[in-house]
Amino acid sequence: MSTPADAQRMEKIVSLCKRRGFIFQSSEIYGGLNGLWDYGPLGVELKRNLKNYWWRVTVHERDDVVGMDGAILTHREVLKASGHVEGFSDPMIDCRTCKAHFRFDQLIEKKGVKQCPNCGGKDLTDARQFNLMFETHVGAAADESSIAYLRPETAQSIFVQFKNSLEVSRKKLPFGIAQIGKAFRNEINPRNFTFRSREFEQMELEYFCRAEEGMKLLEYWKEERLKFYESIGIPREKLHVKTVSDEERAFYSKGTYDIEYDFPFGRQELEGVAYRTDYDLSQHQKASGKSLEYFDEVTKQRFIPHVVEPSAGVDRTVLALICEAYSEDQAPDEKGKMETRVVLHFHPRMAPIKCGIFPLLKNNEGLVAKAKEVVDHLRPHMFVFYDESGAIGRRYRRQDEIGTPFCVTVDFETLGEKDEKLRDTVTLRERDSMKQERIAISDLLAALSVRIA
Ligand code: GAP
Repeated sequence: MSTPADAQRMEKIVSLCKRRGFIFQSSEIYGGLNGLWDYGPLGVELKRNLKNYWWRVTVHERDDVVGMDGAILTHREVLKASGHVEGFSDPMIDCRTCKAHFRFDQLIEKKGVKQCPNCGGKDLTDARQFNLMFETHVGAAADESSIAYLRPETAQSIFVQFKNSLEVSRKKLPFGIAQIGKAFRNEINPRNFTFRSREFEQMELEYFCRAEEGMKLLEYWKEERLKFYESIGIPREKLHVKTVSDEERAFYSKGTYDIEYDFPFGRQELEGVAYRTDYDLSQHQKASGKSLEYFDEVTKQRFIPHVVEPSAGVDRTVLALICEAYSEDQAPDEKGKMETRVVLHFHPRMAPIKCGIFPLLKNNEGLVAKAKEVVDHLRPHMFVFYDESGAIGRRYRRQDEIGTPFCVTVDFETLGEKDEKLRDTVTLRERDSMKQERIAISDLLAALSVRIA
């Protein structure tokens, strides 16, 4: 249950996201388009750090996973075979009083009577199925034959390219194909900021295996995925594993877990980890007439592999990272007076900017030149930000507010003006503890690299 304090916290997070350039409402100057969001200069860095890290641990650091990047526009037959054309829908209700549309499960109930969550109206239509896919036409003829869809998940192109990927990678079971990319769903009621959007990104892995390995691998991937969230700064106690019940699970799945996170608006799904059996490949083999079988050279058996799928939302994870990182504490200002400090405690690995670099004074040529030397030294290895405007305390606060884990200040000691032994050293300040250490510029890259890896 979320409290008024949680709602207030969420409001502050949304406002910070706009003010500091993480996330903007899409098409804002034209009044906005509901359920669509644009990532600003810092948001795009955060999102990339997340995707790059997922790719690193899921593809580059493993021998048993290859990547792919499929087209967004998808052949109708693919989504017919997968069941999306027929069944990818939510039950929708209209309120006749305020004309709003809702998913059936979003209605509120008072004294056993369903009501509109918007106006409280009780004059509601019956539920009807609303297909969530965005339909379009490919080519000049806008008729039945040219219908295509914006993919509602990245998974289907992985299944459709299973045989090609297998042949070129020469992998043996069990092995996986990973993909990060956009997916589109015409959600009836997008809400909770970016949590439920109409355009979003997924990080999906289809891990193919023998039938007898499916249940064990489901457990393995659930644990791997929990470790992943911890390694990007989401603590285990805020993560919850929900076993999806037989009634809620897709009919072809033998086991599904939802990994949930305690958002300020309640406990909600970040990722699904599902054992999908051989359903998807079987469906595509049947519909396309092309063999999607695997040939086991040792046993000489031919069969359709089963699959375990960890499917994570990029945007939801970005939102979880921001919600988890947001905090307000008390810190002394320039004159030692305590003030409220807004901090994003991002894990350094996820932080959009890794290091702020400041000359103590902007009108001192020696300090400025040295600070720019430090920028040039670090820039090829990490995203850094040079700032010379305002008092040093203010500059620290600005970096704290966007989650920059380290700041370097070039001062008169750096120029060797006070003590020759301190020449070419700088202060390195850590965001969370606010502790400062003196470090040689020549040691800076190594010291920062281990902390942001
Ligand atoms: N291939 C399986 C699949 O797509 P899903 O549970 O429908 O499963 C996987 O989606 C993940 O994609 C979700 O756990 C969530 O993180 C993300 N996701 C789904 N719908 C979303 C939406 N409307 N907005 C943002 N993220 C969404």
